Amino acid sequence: MKSLIAGNWKMNGLSAASAEIKALITKFAGSAPDDRDVLICPPATLLMAFASSFSDEGFEFGGQDCHANASGAHTGDISAEMLADAGAAYVIVGHSERRADHAETDAQVKAKADAALNAGLSPIVCVGETREEREAGKALDVVAAQLDGSLPQTPSAFVIAYEPVWAIGTGLTPTIDDIAEMHAHIRNKTRADIRVLYGGSVKPANAQEILAVKDVNGALVGGASLKADDFYGIISAAPGDV
Ligand code: 13P
Repeated sequence: MKSLIAGNWKMNGLSAASAEIKALITKFAGSAPDDRDVLICPPATLLMAFASSFSDEGFEFGGQDCHANASGAHTGDISAEMLADAGAAYVIVGHSERRADHAETDAQVKAKADAALNAGLSPIVCVGETREEREAGKALDVVAAQLDGSLPQTPSAFVIAYEPVWAIGTGLTPTIDDIAEMHAHIRNKTRADIRVLYGGSVKPANAQEILAVKDVNGALVGGASLKADDFYGIISAAPGDV
């Protein structure tokens, strides 16, 4: 499998942020490396413009969430079909910020993941424990339950992202042993051909060590994906084949 380095821009970026993608392309001398997948999930407002301007350079684009239905009376929501139509290849579902801010349940995340697959997108299904759950020794059980509840029914290609909630945007990361333990646990619960990404405070300084861990097949990067220099450093640290 190729590794997947995915940037989640969250609610950041105006149209001028295309300069960061241009800078990234320049760093790669005109095109994304072809031995690893590079994905950027910008705000939905930028998706179509980015996908039409930069897909030829080998970068892929994705959404940050989708509705479980293909269309209908759901003001403000975006369907997987719409993301695909705008040029997306992937969509993040069940990010902890959506689980927390919008009370999304495992069942809703599963429905979104299935909707994504039906629309021809690869869902990136996010799971991860809170600090309290880790301190209580429940991290493995919590993630197992999230996987049981949130993975798509459809047996096609999807991606899992393990993002411990307490590591997101905090500068904290689990120990390498804890990452290895969790990724082996996730691998046991899924298939050999499913990419399992690590996310939570990945930056150029820690990317190489984290991306070298067995069963870590890439990274889901928040803050450090907003700046071309940092994202380039992380992409460069990824092994091509995982
Ligand atoms: P940070 O890399 O900013 O910690 O965010 C991780 C994340 O939530 C990616 O989805």
